[in-house]
Amino acid sequence: MMKLRVISILLIVFTSYTVPAQNKFLPGEVWKDTNGEVINAHGGTVIYAANKYYLFGETRGRHGTRGVSVYSSNDLYQWKPEGLALETSADTTSDITRGCVMERPKVVYNKKTKKYILWFHLELKGKGYAAARAAVAMSDKPAGPYTYIGSFRPNGNMSRDMTIFKDKDDKAYLIYSSNENYDLRVAQLTDDYLSVTTQDKMLFSNHREAPAVFRKNNTYYLITSGCTGWAPNKATLHTASSIWGPWELAANNPMQGENADLTFGGQSTYILPVENSKDKFIFLADIWKPADLADSRYIWLPIQFKDNVPYIQWMNEWDLNFFK
Ligand code: DGJ
Repeated sequence: MMKLRVISILLIVFTSYTVPAQNKFLPGEVWKDTNGEVINAHGGTVIYAANKYYLFGETRGRHGTRGVSVYSSNDLYQWKPEGLALETSADTTSDITRGCVMERPKVVYNKKTKKYILWFHLELKGKGYAAARAAVAMSDKPAGPYTYIGSFRPNGNMSRDMTIFKDKDDKAYLIYSSNENYDLRVAQLTDDYLSVTTQDKMLFSNHREAPAVFRKNNTYYLITSGCTGWAPNKATLHTASSIWGPWELAANNPMQGENADLTFGGQSTYILPVENSKDKFIFLADIWKPADLADSRYIWLPIQFKDNVPYIQWMNEWDLNFFK
């Protein structure tokens, strides 16, 4: 009898205990979704659509790719899993058949066609990193599911690490590491954002990858990493007054604080303009764990400015009040 009472008290205590809602960013820590599962969305991006934020990223197993995951949020701290926006295919003749590698997914909304367009770096099954293709999928809804359209080398150029940047005039661009990652190129997307135009130019040839771009007023800022596989290295910042360049290398490391020379152990992936707040940007990076890619961690840090030069200072924790 006594034993039963103890068990029922314990049950009441356990079931009434809810994990406190996350209300801050904890760079480098394990980040759990609203179901209590570790968020699996690496090399990703965030968009704001229909009054919500959507986070997309690589869904990783220990090493392999499962597809592109999507999460939704009202506050950028708590993320609800929305499943896979795009899944690897059971069809062995598909480019995205199981065993392919999907990296750095980026989503952009096309106002004219009212479609969400997903771009990512695709490597074909069993070919290592030799295919070096950009790939495209499309959906009517932000969370998908996305329909796979195809993959290609933009204007015949190799395309590995990449990002998509949509400018104020709604022109969108693919910025991609090409020529065995030696060249960083930009290609303007077609009006429907489903392909690239022949407006395609080399920005510089500094052996960089992991491009992340933002625009403040009339200046474009580009953060990249060096090419050391999954290992962290020093970031650089380039600035330009046109997306086509010329891009000027900034004198200082944009990262500041302990471990800044190794980008705090991470690698850039995206720069998020905070919705409804002018000139507020969040720098997103991945701390890769090559022994178990699913366990890779996230770095989200605010971008700060000194004399109009952006920098990113390590913080163990912060929240959006920082921008006030
Ligand atoms: C570095 C890239 O930035 C990552 O996205 C991934 O492609 C790794 N290289 C693979 O080694």
